[in-house]
Amino acid sequence: MDALLALDQGTSSSRALVFDRSGRLLAVAQRELTQHFPQPGWVEHDADEIWADQIECAREAVAKAGVRPAAIGITNQRETVVLWDRRTGAPLHKALVWQDRRTADFCEALKAQGLEPRVRALTGLVLDPYFSATKLRWLLDNVAGARERAASGELAFGTVDSWLLWKLTGGKVHATDVSNASRTLLFDIHRGDWSDELLALFDIPRALLPEVRPSAGVFGRAEEFGVPIAGIAGDQQAALFGQAALSPGQAKNTYGTGCFLLMHTGAEARTSTQGLVTTRAAQVGAQAQYALEGSVFVGGAVVQWLRDGLKAIGGSGEVQALAGSVPDAGGVMFVPAFAGLGAPYWRPDARGALLGLTRGTTQAHIARAALESIAFQSAAVLAAMNADVGERERLTELRVDGGASANDLLMQFQADLLGIPVLRPRVIETTGLGAALLAGIGAGVYGSAAEVGSIWQLDRAFEPRMSRDEAGARLAQWDRAVRQVLAP
Ligand code: G3P
Repeated sequence: MDALLALDQGTSSSRALVFDRSGRLLAVAQRELTQHFPQPGWVEHDADEIWADQIECAREAVAKAGVRPAAIGITNQRETVVLWDRRTGAPLHKALVWQDRRTADFCEALKAQGLEPRVRALTGLVLDPYFSATKLRWLLDNVAGARERAASGELAFGTVDSWLLWKLTGGKVHATDVSNASRTLLFDIHRGDWSDELLALFDIPRALLPEVRPSAGVFGRAEEFGVPIAGIAGDQQAALFGQAALSPGQAKNTYGTGCFLLMHTGAEARTSTQGLVTTRAAQVGAQAQYALEGSVFVGGAVVQWLRDGLKAIGGSGEVQALAGSVPDAGGVMFVPAFAGLGAPYWRPDARGALLGLTRGTTQAHIARAALESIAFQSAAVLAAMNADVGERERLTELRVDGGASANDLLMQFQADLLGIPVLRPRVIETTGLGAALLAGIGAGVYGSAAEVGSIWQLDRAFEPRMSRDEAGARLAQWDRAVRQVLAP
């Protein structure tokens, strides 16, 4: 049997999933990842823990499935920066996570110099601490000796995919794929290469960088399993692929730690005027593929906060029952700007807020408002996307996936706000599926990307039930809440 192993290294957890060639999930293993918050606004992960968890999950999933995979695909939290010693393989510092805001002032300084339009033209991105370059620069400036060692070629930089590829191949391969490279602020998305101009701007030595390749193809051999690593893509681009959103105009929203709405735009890089970014989609073959993306920094993570911060629930699975125990949020609005606000606002300085509290407010109202905030933020991104593409290409349906898409209450509210059907596929592990499919193409298990398109199957369509007037009033309420958070 042609089984495929996907390693899905996310912000909150590391997972390994085994699929058969029809896209059926045979086995899964998961470990929750420790989050380090050394200062307000700083977020770090231990790269060694990531590797240890990921390889253990891989062993466990393969043992559970009882099959030897034909190939491995890697998908990962994007933008997060790992810096390691090429000789020993030891990380020089904890990984700086995409949510980390420590370089906000530096980004502001670059913006004040008028550099954002040029950076945007080359990378499709905005100057925000979210992306990798300013974090890598911070490490080079703050870890003793790192800058000199980087210049002399002793060190390697990678996003988490590169780190795992390096470890899986026993230090033999230092590479990444175009979708991950396009999130670093160092990659010219039009030429498809690292940009010398950006390397100079961010003061990053080229000697640090991985080789960039298409998303499907043999990257190297995983020593432990004796099989090729034949697909790599950032988790959001992998999810777009796993949703079979392979042609222009198709879109998906993934409800993971954050929420990421991507619309495929084919071979055309489209520029947003509405606060979205242009990015590389997963690439099969020689032709570059692009997407428009709106990134919401705190999505499912708000449920984690209800559990760990507020202690309103004992486990994430309890949120639907608590939120569903009240008919509505009782006027409470929750803006979970724990890591600033991403698209379409781009305000790294924003902080979260709970508004509209009364003596009657209970944890259930707050839980409901927290769930609703996930849908409100996604609706704001969808509105921006519709405004960008214009009336003729507006989205008429939205494919959804990720852990929180299993929550019916949330999906119904999402459809109500958007006024279009929300389509949930049978496999909501779309990120892992996308990586497995890319690996299957790269290893020759499938003949083409078109062949994998037939794997997508609908589980449930959520049709909008709320009147457009009421949805409009709710969205206006959200806008007011965000304005209060953004006010100086
Ligand atoms: O850009 C960050 C994104 O890749 C993280 O995804 O699923 O860990 O929220 P997730």
